[in-house]
Amino acid sequence: MKIIEVKDYKEMSQKAAEYIIEKVCHNPKIKLGLATGGTPIGTYQNLIADHKQNGTSYANVMTFNLDEYIGLSGENKNSYRYFMDEQLFNHIDINKKNTFVPQGVAEDIQAECERYENLLEEYGGIDLQVLGIGGNGHIGFNEPGTSFQSQTHVVNLATSTINANARFFNQIEEVPVQAVTMGISTIMKSKEILLLASGESKNNAMVQLLNGEITESFPASVLKKHPCVTIIADRAAVAGLKIQC
Ligand code: GLP
Repeated sequence: MKIIEVKDYKEMSQKAAEYIIEKVCHNPKIKLGLATGGTPIGTYQNLIADHKQNGTSYANVMTFNLDEYIGLSGENKNSYRYFMDEQLFNHIDINKKNTFVPQGVAEDIQAECERYENLLEEYGGIDLQVLGIGGNGHIGFNEPGTSFQSQTHVVNLATSTINANARFFNQIEEVPVQAVTMGISTIMKSKEILLLASGESKNNAMVQLLNGEITESFPASVLKKHPCVTIIADRAAVAGLKIQC
């Protein structure tokens, strides 16, 4: 794993955007795996600014999101489809038909999981997957205890995840308790992974990721088995860790 330590959230967002832009310029048909949550918002803002200033084009890019809440349709402001449209897709020249997010309101949710997994396979997999990390080490919505062999599946969200994500909702009761997420093996199939971490609240998770063992009770630890992972983390997230850049 290559670790890039930066000053703060702003610098993490700039560096992450530069990283992604370089990949898009190199391969205009790149298939990006995208994440939601607070962490990538600044990165997406930088991608939008660059698109407007420098014309980096996403016309031939495809995107696949990690996860979606069960029970929220794309029109719901708290759905991850809505988040992606608002935070990124509506502001760049991407063809929305080439942007995929699991369906949170599919009639048959198991079939939806299979459909999404097959879709990824059909398109040849993800070239670059952007990831955040949960305080408990979750990636996507793969909570502690998830099998490293898992494919796209339904999860019951951990209480800590519901609490952490409640800030995006009017009240905690509105936070869905289940989600569809790419599995750990789905994520690990990506050719390359870019993990972003910012702030003190991610410090414990980063310590465990970098110093701890590889175990299903800490999902992000699986990334140590991936041949091509870059981490961009700010000082607060990696405080107390010895980083060799
Ligand atoms: C959320 C998302 C993850 C995200 C993580 C961290 O629940 N499902 O994809 O990476 O938790 O979120 P944040 O960036 O808001 O800290």
